[in-house]
Amino acid sequence: MGQTISKKIISWYKKHQRSLPWRSYTSSSDRDYKVLLSEFMLQQTKVSTVVPYFNKFYKKFRTIKALSKSRITSVLKLWEGLGYYRRARNLHQTAKLVLQKHNGKLPDSFSDLKNLPGIGDYTASAILSIAKDQSFIGIDGNVKRVISRVFNLKHNKKLLLSIEKKLNSMKVKKGSSELMQGIMELGALLCLPTRPGCTKCPIKSHCISFKKNTFKDRAKKKSYQIKYFNAFFITKNNKILFSFNKKFNFLQGLVNLPLVEVATNKHNATINKVFKKGLISSSSAPLVKYKMSNFVMHIKVISLSNVIFNKTKYFWLGQKDIKKFTISTLAKKLLQVSSNHEK
Ligand code: ADE
Repeated sequence: MGQTISKKIISWYKKHQRSLPWRSYTSSSDRDYKVLLSEFMLQQTKVSTVVPYFNKFYKKFRTIKALSKSRITSVLKLWEGLGYYRRARNLHQTAKLVLQKHNGKLPDSFSDLKNLPGIGDYTASAILSIAKDQSFIGIDGNVKRVISRVFNLKHNKKLLLSIEKKLNSMKVKKGSSELMQGIMELGALLCLPTRPGCTKCPIKSHCISFKKNTFKDRAKKKSYQIKYFNAFFITKNNKILFSFNKKFNFLQGLVNLPLVEVATNKHNATINKVFKKGLISSSSAPLVKYKMSNFVMHIKVISLSNVIFNKTKYFWLGQKDIKKFTISTLAKKLLQVSSNHEK
């Protein structure tokens, strides 16, 4: 039965797939590169966000070789706004290693791929099936939802194992690439978390959840820890004070406004410690809420002037200098809020 389901998914995919820039290619090496780039960008990010970034990136770097010869600063600049900048650094390293160790050709074995930075089980499987047409299927959120619904799998500790078993029974000799992308596409277009479009589904006659009408929205609302911060907007002669804030891994080495974490909601307490000033109240400072992957930042943006500071930690940047750095989306938001507040 697995095979019948796979054939139906493949022919549905051929007809209904979205036209995405990494789905058309001029050669097998172009395909490898596009799949590699798209899979890095699609980690933690949705398709509609990725498409313009993918196009801009591909326009600048057309091959793995071109990417490997580039500077990390220009790679990060193209990644600006997409977040999770470690992906950009890993992709750059991966391109360099593919050139050094694999003659510029993306390897076609699972273990060689997994030895490259930023490539885990999912990405290795996705590359092997999508770019190399090998019978692998990576399990992302969409694949997990589609398969667990079709086979009405129990959501317990063994769910992943059960999904792997079912996917093994669905493997095909030809068309692995279309099968993997077809399952993902079903999850993205029809088999949605809420209100799935079952009437249009090519495999509804095989779907146990459809027959039993047992769809459940399993997406539990995650509750996030709140962490409190003060950010400082400090200007002098049209320059703004910045920091790398090395203590905070989540800023991933990008420049930001000076930032300190404060104890639960006690924004006032630390103002004086960092920048030696007379007592300033944070109560009128704007509050920015910003979601990181596993916590929410509540940041008071405090404007100061004439401060004394540690020159090894903080530095001035003018408008022109700012453009040379990769500015995180968080920093952009803080700058926007602080300059609006100043007006
Ligand atoms: N998510 C991860 N990889 C994808 C791909 N190749 N196409 C669409 N969505 C994806």
